[in-house]
Amino acid sequence: MELHVFDTIQEASQLAKDVFVKAINENPGCLLGLATGSTPEVLYGLLIEAYKNGEVSFKDVRTVNLDEYVGLGPEHNQSYRYFMNSNLFDHIDIDKNNTNVPDGIGGPEQNAKKYDALLESLGQPDIQLLGIGGNGHIAFNEPGSSFDSTTSIIDLTEETIKANSRFFENIDDVPKKAVSMGIKSILKAKKILLLAFGESKAQAVKDMFELPVTENMPATALKNHPDVMVIVDKAAASLL
Ligand code: F6R
Repeated sequence: MELHVFDTIQEASQLAKDVFVKAINENPGCLLGLATGSTPEVLYGLLIEAYKNGEVSFKDVRTVNLDEYVGLGPEHNQSYRYFMNSNLFDHIDIDKNNTNVPDGIGGPEQNAKKYDALLESLGQPDIQLLGIGGNGHIAFNEPGSSFDSTTSIIDLTEETIKANSRFFENIDDVPKKAVSMGIKSILKAKKILLLAFGESKAQAVKDMFELPVTENMPATALKNHPDVMVIVDKAAASLL
């Protein structure tokens, strides 16, 4: 894993943006694995800016997202489909038919199976973007998730529900389950970019680097991948 530490989230996101823009310009029909949450917000803003400046076009780009809350439809303003549309897709020239987020509505197990079949048919993502949970989760693969997992239904931990309650009016409104790409599927990408910002991620970043590979700390699975860039700000790197 290659570590890049920056003073600010802006500078860190700039590097991630450069990696994405280069990959798209080299292969305009590339497949990008995307994430939601606070972490990629600045990066998505920079990608929108790059599109508006004529630096890049997303016309033929295809995307797959990591996860979705079970029970939230695309119109729910906390669903990850809504997040992707409002933070990125609505502002660039991507064809929304080429963008994929797991379904939150409908039979969860069926949705997971359907998403796996879709991932299989789309092939290997060129880049997979990841954030990291304070407990080391990647996508919604919580501690203890099998490294052999494909798309599945995850029971969110109390810690994750609490962390994500900042986006909801009431903690009881936070869904308790998510449909999430599995660790095995995440590791299939040619290149992985993990971003982590702020003090609340410092312990997870330290554990990811320093612990041996263990299912108790999902992000350690990334040590089994040959091309991982970890891009962090100073606060997230403070315990290294
Ligand atoms: C989101 C995702 C999660 C987040 C993680 C960090 O699609 O898969 O793993 O990346 O929970 O969330 P933020 O960025 O909000 O701190």
